Amino acid sequence: MFATVACSSSEEPGEGSKKVEVFTWWADGGEKAGLDGLVGVFKTDCAGFEFLNGAVAGGAGSNAKQVLASRLQQNDPPDTFQAHAGAELSDYINDDQLEDLSAQYTEWGLTNAFPKGLIDNLTVDGKIYSVPANIHRANVLWSNKTVLAKAGITKDATTLDGFFADLDKLKASGVAAPLALGKDWTQQMLFEALLISKLGPEKFNGLWNGTTSWTGADITDAITTYKRLLTYTNKDRDTFDWTDAEKLLMDGKAAYQLMGDWEAADLDAKGFKDYGWSVFPGNGNTFQWLADSFVLPKGAKNADGTKCWLKTVGSATGQAAFNQKKGSIPARTDVGTDGFPAYQQAAMADWKTATQVPSCPHGSACAQTWQGAVGSAQGKFSSDGDVAALQKALASAAAEFGPKK
Ligand code: GAL
Repeated sequence: MFATVACSSSEEPGEGSKKVEVFTWWADGGEKAGLDGLVGVFKTDCAGFEFLNGAVAGGAGSNAKQVLASRLQQNDPPDTFQAHAGAELSDYINDDQLEDLSAQYTEWGLTNAFPKGLIDNLTVDGKIYSVPANIHRANVLWSNKTVLAKAGITKDATTLDGFFADLDKLKASGVAAPLALGKDWTQQMLFEALLISKLGPEKFNGLWNGTTSWTGADITDAITTYKRLLTYTNKDRDTFDWTDAEKLLMDGKAAYQLMGDWEAADLDAKGFKDYGWSVFPGNGNTFQWLADSFVLPKGAKNADGTKCWLKTVGSATGQAAFNQKKGSIPARTDVGTDGFPAYQQAAMADWKTATQVPSCPHGSACAQTWQGAVGSAQGKFSSDGDVAALQKALASAAAEFGPKK
């Protein structure tokens, strides 16, 4: 059979193409700035290839992951895509969608460049399937300094009680919804930060490895407290992406937002200087981590170009250029702090001493099926506030998608 292939746009990569289609959800602001930093190094180090931007906008991959799933199903993978280290990456590995990169790790000297724990999160059955670009921190509370000052708040709260007291002060000063919030996955993040405060890191870890029950009274208490926290947030949250909530903070309509540290890069990219940060109240020195990594999908049209991209991602120069603009810190342990904004310098220091816990909406703790089930349960709770129903849904999601006992 002679198939006629419609001549597609000159943007589309093809057989023997020099183009490397890099699929991410980093389309704007600080996320795009980070990607641009990496592309700058790629252009120098991989001059024979051309970067093709396959970004699909939407925080945490809310749109990109669906587009990617359908492309993988139709056997039309991009040359490389962004995948979170941990359970989320295992989804693609278990579905046999990724090439093993163990030989490249040896060839490029990557094996000892990353922390062992991170390598373990990228490895299945002794094979390693992706190159990490960064470490992000999820449990950070961002603030508008002027709004805090107007309410007489001069110190960051370190406990949940202190935080509620500050939120009340803000309300009294005229800020109706002091805690800016967005839709499902951003609500998952806020709830997880609160769970860390309530349970402590060890029990929080147990929620994902199966040693902590989702049906206990401590979870009921956490959901009840979370319900109270929602009363300080904007009512239109379910229609907001994280950047819409961030705008409330920038405009002084809110004082706080719980968000990963891509927010530092985004506020910088948008020229907003009046921001502060602290670890979410009650989280102590817990560092809720996640890592973006890049893969070589099976059937990629330009495997050689992808390998050059991956080599750039894993290089010290690539990691410095990317992370300085992305708000994250290098996954490599040999990149110095020079050239990094103040926030990341502090995060680099914290990473060395903190207790680490993973994140479900950002894949380090949960597979995508689990993420989806929790996200919709949170969304439902946002409108009905039914504590028992949320707890039941979270327990069912863990039983269905979590580790089997
Ligand atoms: C995370 C991702 C970050 C950042 C964030 C917001 O899932 O790991 O790099 O892009 O989403 O979109």
